[in-house]
Amino acid sequence: MKNIIITGASSGIGASTARLLYAKGYTLGLMARSVDKLEALSQELGANAIVLPCDVTDYAAVKSGLEQFIAAHGDIDVLINNAGLGYFDSLVGGKIEEWHTMVDVNVKGVLNCLHVALPSLIRSTGHVVNLGSLASHQVFPNSGVYCATKHALIAISNSLRLEIPDKLRVTTISPGSVDTPFIHSTSNPQMLEQYKDYFAAGLRPEMIAEQIVHAIEAPAGSVISEIIIRPNRAMK
Ligand SMILES: NC(=O)c1ccc[n+]([C@@H]2O[C@H](COP(=O)([O-])OP(=O)(O)OC[C@H]3O[C@@H](n4cnc5c(N)ncnc54)[C@H](OP(=O)(O)O)[C@@H]3O)[C@@H](O)[C@H]2O)c1
Repeated sequence: MKNIIITGASSGIGASTARLLYAKGYTLGLMARSVDKLEALSQELGANAIVLPCDVTDYAAVKSGLEQFIAAHGDIDVLINNAGLGYFDSLVGGKIEEWHTMVDVNVKGVLNCLHVALPSLIRSTGHVVNLGSLASHQVFPNSGVYCATKHALIAISNSLRLEIPDKLRVTTISPGSVDTPFIHSTSNPQMLEQYKDYFAAGLRPEMIAEQIVHAIEAPAGSVISEIIIRPNRAMK
């Protein structure tokens, strides 16, 4: 039985991934800030879906949540760094507090989880799955800071792979637009209007969950280092 931590499990890709992994018999640690949503998901899934309320930007909270999980269930086999958010806006006139939040959650949040979990993951010869994006590989207008945070995840993933090739598998999952509440974080009403239909016509979160499971269940002796998945807009 494998122990899997999913950050950002209260919504979208994280919640879909939790459903798919739980059905396959994994023990899950569900991390996010929305305790009510995590409790509802845990009730839906069962006793091996453990609620770990946590803001990933709070290192002490991450440490306490993960240590509590390890004490009760043993070492972490897979850490899915999925918590993240993006605010669409231009760089000129963008909101500095939104830039800081994207860096805090998308980069520092991932680093906080890695810092706490790596010793456990190395003991278990485990697996880190980082949620990148097409924005890890390309830049788009009106999402410069988001793209910068997702580019950073590629650097973190590649560094882990180089430093710990024999004790850790590392996968980056890079989706194009996915139909989740993600786009509704955008506070600029013109930007929201401009992008919301594009995201609504994107991938379904279950499609990303399937790719995460595919990477986790890759045959022993192989590592799926990166998956890029885009909506097939020709099929719409
Ligand atoms: N949707 C897309 O088009 C798309 C495309 C490529 C990549 N991605 C990436 O996929 C990941 C999941 O996004 P999604 O589309 O599933 O969006 P979502 O439905 O908005 O889910 C985001 C999750 O992140 C959690 N989160 C946000 N801030 C947090 C914090 N400070 N501490 C802990 N958890 C936090 C949220 O939980 P709480 O609010 O309860 O804390 C929520 O569970 C993100 O990393 C995103 O960048 C999304």
